[in-house]
Amino acid sequence: MARLFAHADILELAEFSTSPVVNGLTDYNHPCQIMADALTMLETVGRVDDTKVVYVGDGNNIAHSWARLAARFRVDVVIACPKGYEPDPATVAAANAAGVGTVSVSHAPMEAVKGADVVYTDVWASMGQKAEAAERIARFKGFQVDEAMMAAAGPQAWFQHCLPAERGVETTDAVVESARSVVFQEAENRMHAQNAIMLHCLGLA
Ligand code: NVA
Repeated sequence: MARLFAHADILELAEFSTSPVVNGLTDYNHPCQIMADALTMLETVGRVDDTKVVYVGDGNNIAHSWARLAARFRVDVVIACPKGYEPDPATVAAANAAGVGTVSVSHAPMEAVKGADVVYTDVWASMGQKAEAAERIARFKGFQVDEAMMAAAGPQAWFQHCLPAERGVETTDAVVESARSVVFQEAENRMHAQNAIMLHCLGLA
């Protein structure tokens, strides 16, 4: 398992490795995290198929993994991001072409979250982007998942975040600590999902 920066490096590792290589996060995607998130959906929403997940924030590695999940499950993924911070268009197109779930991009988060089963966010400045943090705070105005946004989503909506969160930036203390927040259950599920991935690699599951 490798947690790297450049996605090309994990592809190279996989090309030359004789053992399975698990992507522990790259600047392109974070598949292990999304498996934990899907497990958390099973425990909260009760299913992964036939759901609406609204990712609010930067079209980053987590957004790409949500898009890729929609190629495998009937999830309608909406990525609500500021203009200029969209996810990779080829990833979105490939997910839609799979004909399972759907992926769409919105610039209107309060509208996008309506009826969501899960409202999800992640930091606005990922690894390698910390120097842009101040500029991003200005550009992401209106994209903070706060209590008003959760209310706009509706009472059925669960709140997920891959953590670590920057409270007061992409979300608020009130949302992270709310009854609809499942961020710590989700964090524990990283371990259970990871165990399942290892069993799969060993041919035991
Ligand atoms: N988007 C974040 C995810 C951290 C789990 C980052 O890449 O820093």
